[in-house]
Amino acid sequence: MRICNTIVDMRGACRAARSGGKRLGFVATMGALHEGHLSLVRAAKAACDVVAASIFVNPTQFGPTEDLAKYPRTFERDQQLLEKEGVELLFAPSVEEMYPAKAVTWVTVDGLSDRLDGRSRPGHFRGVATVVAKLFHVVEPDAAFFGQKDAAQVAIIRRMVRDLNFPVEIVACPIVREPDGLAMSSRNAYLDSQQRKQALALHRSLMRVKKMWEGGQRAAEKLVTAGCEELAAEKSVRLDYFEIVDPDGLDPVRNVSKGALVAVAAFVGTTRLIDNIQL
Ligand code: PAJ
Repeated sequence: MRICNTIVDMRGACRAARSGGKRLGFVATMGALHEGHLSLVRAAKAACDVVAASIFVNPTQFGPTEDLAKYPRTFERDQQLLEKEGVELLFAPSVEEMYPAKAVTWVTVDGLSDRLDGRSRPGHFRGVATVVAKLFHVVEPDAAFFGQKDAAQVAIIRRMVRDLNFPVEIVACPIVREPDGLAMSSRNAYLDSQQRKQALALHRSLMRVKKMWEGGQRAAEKLVTAGCEELAAEKSVRLDYFEIVDPDGLDPVRNVSKGALVAVAAFVGTTRLIDNIQL
């Protein structure tokens, strides 16, 4: 695996990798890799000739009071995991490399950026869309693989790619969970053993909604109330949002039909976790 720290180096390596019509797949990450990230790499390996990944803890997607400074950084281990999965190219730039001094240009996906996590984390999706656009310009992938775990992120990147004519196919991959249902996340590392148990309330709340919907309930209001109730039963978990939206535009729906996205975010202690299901 070749590790590139500069844009020039990575772009050159990616162009060379694509020569002769080879299909280049790309997985963007912030590191602290787990099976969720690796599932994206495996999907990329299966669908492409060459796979590139990036590890970059993107400061512009963290709010001023968020966990940028303490975000887990495990580069050595991540590097080994990616190598084992057969990733050929790894981009690991510094913040200075990615953001030149006095950078003032942003990508904003109006409307969608203010939904779900964007509402509780102002500026978050502007940072995500900007860094993903920049990574796409560096890597120039044929296909890029994202996790459905961050469903709003997928919707926003799809819209950005469509609106700005990026020549890249966006592939969404299923959420990878722990055996007990907890969605894998780099932030699960912040949880102590008691919080780890409490965190299961997110998945439980989604399962309750799924069951009700399968039983014929279609009123979003009723389904959301039940989901919130399930979360409230776990006293130490503080709800951020519980919403049922259309998965493309992220607009709330009133009558819940097949394909609707049920999304939840909640704090367990100071750790903010998200999860979702598509009905
Ligand atoms: P990060 O949180 O490191 O996630 C990288 C990719 O892994 C994302 O596409 C995310 O949806 C996916 N992923 C995380 N947990 C997953 C799980 N349990 N199952 C399946 N996929 C999972 O998302 C980001 O980084 C950043 O916003 C980024 C896109 C890299 C831009 O900075």
